[in-house]
Amino acid sequence: MRTKLLLGTLNQGKIREYSLLLADLPFVLVTPQDEGLDIQVEEKGKTMEENALLKARAYSAESHLPTLAEDSGLEVEALHGEPGIFSARYGNSDEERISRILHRLKGIPWEERKACFRCVIALTLPSRKIEICQGECQGLIAFSPQGNDGFGYDPIFYLPEMGATMAELTLEEKNALSHRGRAARKAIPIIRHLVSINTLAI
Ligand code: IMP
Repeated sequence: MRTKLLLGTLNQGKIREYSLLLADLPFVLVTPQDEGLDIQVEEKGKTMEENALLKARAYSAESHLPTLAEDSGLEVEALHGEPGIFSARYGNSDEERISRILHRLKGIPWEERKACFRCVIALTLPSRKIEICQGECQGLIAFSPQGNDGFGYDPIFYLPEMGATMAELTLEEKNALSHRGRAARKAIPIIRHLVSINTLAI
């Protein structure tokens, strides 16, 4: 029987991306909903790493499963790194959060619209050891939302090398260059190594 790996998130966009990113691992990926877990983790850390650790610890304590949790967000250079760890709390809906950023960047030219998506993964293992993996993706804040795929700030995150926003990419294209894809590709060999040395009973 294959061991379960819990994705410690309720965000359907993240679940879709991790399901593809981690598809080749010898685990059954499960969500809090699959496991009947109903926990809300308060993001009271001061950094993405602290918040990722809080989520990973809370979900693994409740599930007793190896758990992958993450904290992620958008940092806009002209806004001194905002919204950063407050990305999910920057408004009541994606539309409101996007409008707030566009409003604050009104009149700012392309060359001053640099932004970075950051993702910090915390991986808890049965040994209670926790591994941290990070990934980032550089881009520009578009002048208006474009595209219907992805989630969150994707419609205003423009990638000059693709000539498109993240919301105009396929899931595979987004995973290939996103902050989450980069962090996940660092986590994969760590998980595989633990399997190979039999730290996890599979
Ligand atoms: P949290 O990790 O639950 O605090 O949520 C991070 C927030 O950052 C999300 O709700 C989105 O608003 C934003 N975010 C993180 N990753 C992405 C992404 O890949 N695309 C678009 N928005 C993202």
